[in-house]
Amino acid sequence: MFVFAHLSDTHLDGGERSAARTRAAMDHLDALPWDLDAVLVTGDIADNGTPAEYDTARALLASRHPVLIGPGNHDVRGPFRENLLGEPAGDGGPINRVLRTASALYAMCDSSIPGRHDGLLAPETLAWLSGVLDESPPSLPVFVAFHHPPVELRIPFLDAIRQFGEADLADLVARHPNIAALLCGHVHTPAATTFAGRPLLLAPGIVSTLSLPWERGDDEGHVDPLLPPMLTFNVWDAGRLTTHYRVVGSLDTPIRDRTEAVDVIGRG
Ligand SMILES: [Fe+2]
Ligand SMILES: [Fe+2]
Repeated sequence: MFVFAHLSDTHLDGGERSAARTRAAMDHLDALPWDLDAVLVTGDIADNGTPAEYDTARALLASRHPVLIGPGNHDVRGPFRENLLGEPAGDGGPINRVLRTASALYAMCDSSIPGRHDGLLAPETLAWLSGVLDESPPSLPVFVAFHHPPVELRIPFLDAIRQFGEADLADLVARHPNIAALLCGHVHTPAATTFAGRPLLLAPGIVSTLSLPWERGDDEGHVDPLLPPMLTFNVWDAGRLTTHYRVVGSLDTPIRDRTEAVDVIGRG
C-alpha cells in the first residue's frame, strides 16, 4: 500500500495569493507523518511563464517527498526547464519526465502546444510514453499524468481547450493493462471520470475552483473565490486505487476579488 498526492494549477504570477495557496498545499504535505510515494503537479505552474515565476515555483514546490512536475498551457518550456527544473533550456521540445519508485512508475507527459491553450500529446511524446511503458515491469502500476483532459466534461469553454487527438492515447492505454489511472489538471475542479476504461482523475485547482455551468447558468469560466485550495491523496492498495479530496489552508487565505479571479481561469 502506498499513497501519492496530486495537485495542479498553481498559476504562480508573482502575487501573494497564488504563492500563499501553493505554500499551504506544500506545507500540508511536508507536515504529514507519512512518506508519500510521489507528489504529482500537473501543470499551469506559472501564470505567465516568466523566469521569475519559475524561480518562485522552484522554491515553493520543493518537498521532502519526490515531486514530479509537468507543464500546462500557461507554462513556457524554456524558463520551465531552466528556472524550475534546473536543466538547459533545450530546443523547445516537449517536457516528458518519468519518476520510478519501488512501488510505481509515474509518467508525466507534456500535453501543451506552445502558443495555444488546447492540448495534444505529440507523436514524440506518445513514442516516449510507449518506450517508458515497454521498459517497465508488467507488475508495476503505472500512473500517466498530463495537463489537459482528453475527454469532454460538458463544460463548453473547457471542452474547447481540452486535449485533442485522444484516439492514439486510447490505443496506447489499451495495449498496457498496467496503466492504473490517468491524471490531469487544467479543469480547476475536483472530478473523476474514465478514459479508455481506466480512471481519469481531474485535480482540483490550487489557485481557484471553477463554478460549474449548472451552478451558475452560464459558461463563462467563473470561479468561486471563497473556495480554498484543494489537493488529492491517492491510495493504491491490493490493486485498487482510492482518491481522497482534501481542502488545505483556510478561508482566511488571501483572495482577490471575483473579477480578477475570473481572469485566472478565463484563459484556461
Ligand atoms: Fe489552469
Ligand atoms: Fe490549463
